[in-house]
Amino acid sequence: MTLPNQHHKHERTFTIIKPDGVQRTLIGEIIQRYERIGLKLVAMKLMVPTENMVKKHYTLDAGWKQAVGEKSIKGFLDKGQTPPSNDPLEIAEKILNRLAKYLTSGPVIAMVWQGAHAVKIVRKITGGTEPLTSDMGTIRGDFVLDSYQMSETDDRSIRNLVHASGSVQEAEDEIAHWFKPEEIVDYRLFQEKILYSADMDDIFG
Ligand code: CDP
Ligand code: MG
Repeated sequence: MTLPNQHHKHERTFTIIKPDGVQRTLIGEIIQRYERIGLKLVAMKLMVPTENMVKKHYTLDAGWKQAVGEKSIKGFLDKGQTPPSNDPLEIAEKILNRLAKYLTSGPVIAMVWQGAHAVKIVRKITGGTEPLTSDMGTIRGDFVLDSYQMSETDDRSIRNLVHASGSVQEAEDEIAHWFKPEEIVDYRLFQEKILYSADMDDIFG
């Protein structure tokens, strides 16, 4: 989705390298994956989030609780396992408390990435929520081995290294939640010519 008069190249998304990503020394690897596809880093900070920051972040979207609860139940049922509860909202409440503990446990890196289809491209590179079932070749599929079942047994969050916005709306809300407008840097990247120029003659002619 793009705003009227706005080229696709202006789309932005929000990502967090979660505390396990920092502790696993994967900062460079993760940034490289988003960078090498052609996205532009326009904001970045290292910080330890507060519980309030985290809880607000996950509840910016009023539908998130229902969705995360349903997705978790499906994750169990798809493997022939019994979910911890059949009530999505009860599950979501527990997930939110665990997330507050997980994401405040140490430094994280918050980033804003810009480029065509930034939201979907970053989700594709990041992979599905549960590392056990996320595709190989994705960050969550390649670097970590957690599951819904193990996180439930140990009463903790799924450790999946990164957060990435799920939609353009979510991205806009999350960017505003984590960054002040002046912390987002508008600049031109040399490679944007080859990525976005309508006429290749511009470059080689
Ligand atoms: O991060 P993503 O958008 O893929 O998933 P989400 O459904 O928005 O859930 C947010 C985060 O909650 C996940 O990335 C997990 O870290 C955590 N989660 C969890 O610990 N246990 C679940 N059953 C579901 C999500
Ligand atoms: Mg999400």
